[in-house]
Amino acid sequence: DWKMQDVLDEEIKTIKSMVGPDEHVICALSGGVDSTVAATLVHNAIGDRLHCVFVDNGLLRYKEKERVMSTFNSDLHLPVTCIDASEKFLTELKGVKDPEMKRKIIGREFIVVFDEFAHMLEQKIGKRPEYLVQGTLYPDVIESCPPPGSGRTHSHTIKSHHNVGGLPKDMKLKLIEPLKLLFKDEVRKLGSILNVPESFLKRHPFPGPGLAVRVIGDVTAGNALEVLRQVDEIFIQAIKDAGLYDEIWQAFAVFLPVQTVGVQGDQRTHSHVVALRAITSEDGMTANWCPFSFKPVRYDFERPFLVDVVKKICNNVRGVNRVVLDVTSKPPATVEWE
Ligand code: XMP
Repeated sequence: DWKMQDVLDEEIKTIKSMVGPDEHVICALSGGVDSTVAATLVHNAIGDRLHCVFVDNGLLRYKEKERVMSTFNSDLHLPVTCIDASEKFLTELKGVKDPEMKRKIIGREFIVVFDEFAHMLEQKIGKRPEYLVQGTLYPDVIESCPPPGSGRTHSHTIKSHHNVGGLPKDMKLKLIEPLKLLFKDEVRKLGSILNVPESFLKRHPFPGPGLAVRVIGDVTAGNALEVLRQVDEIFIQAIKDAGLYDEIWQAFAVFLPVQTVGVQGDQRTHSHVVALRAITSEDGMTANWCPFSFKPVRYDFERPFLVDVVKKICNNVRGVNRVVLDVTSKPPATVEWE
């Protein structure tokens, strides 16, 4: 794609001339497409004066850390430090049920870890980094600063905690936002030119607070996170096997703090309920539940597929004896349950 190649060349030139020869740059990787493409681009421009951090907050999906770290290391050769802060995050979240409180705690803990990373780095390179890379896209720019008279409001303040607004005030970092004039499909093209694996570029969006907004109530209760990881992995794998992954905007499981009676083998059980949610959407602002929103309608998401997934979940995940399907669009529901 010659147009995106031009954009890439131009951006690399700009970053090279902006960042002085002994200045350093930091970047927090979420495992998502935007931060990964932004970091890869900056790495192309300034090499190992870029320092990335990936935080394990204990709220990641099944094998997520291993999967993204392998992409960062083996495919992209990005300089990434992985910080395991899971114990701290989960300790702080213990007993917390309120969704907004959960988000607040997670945002705060991200800042603590990020601050630690900056200090570690300062020790290592002998000075403070001057720049911060952010994977801000054009729609984020419009959303956080709607043109006057557009009638748009700050619809995505919900995402603010992992944008720069949430970073430590005394860090005084200058921003590098190489994607800020691009739309999502252009970022994917750019990523492709930068050799980010195609499967990675097509990943479904994942919320910053991670599985915390998909375990209803206290995320540390029982083995909710472990159960959710297993159910989610079975669901996503089945969607991939059925060739449906790329047609779905987002699919995931939700853990409910509800136990119901079931019968498994000859045993009466009293186990948890999980919900499955799959949606189609253009931008996450509105959404339709699958399968009926597929265009053309894909009947393969219906009975045989669902029957098989439910069987797999109940047979393989201890502690689950009931699966429900979320058939609510946005609005009136949101995409996430919390
Ligand atoms: P909702 O649930 O608001 O989700 O309909 C719309 C899209 O945003 C994602 N989402 C988040 N992303 N931090 C994020 O980075 C958050 O706190 C957050 N909450 C929701 C959600 O997964 C969906 O793609």
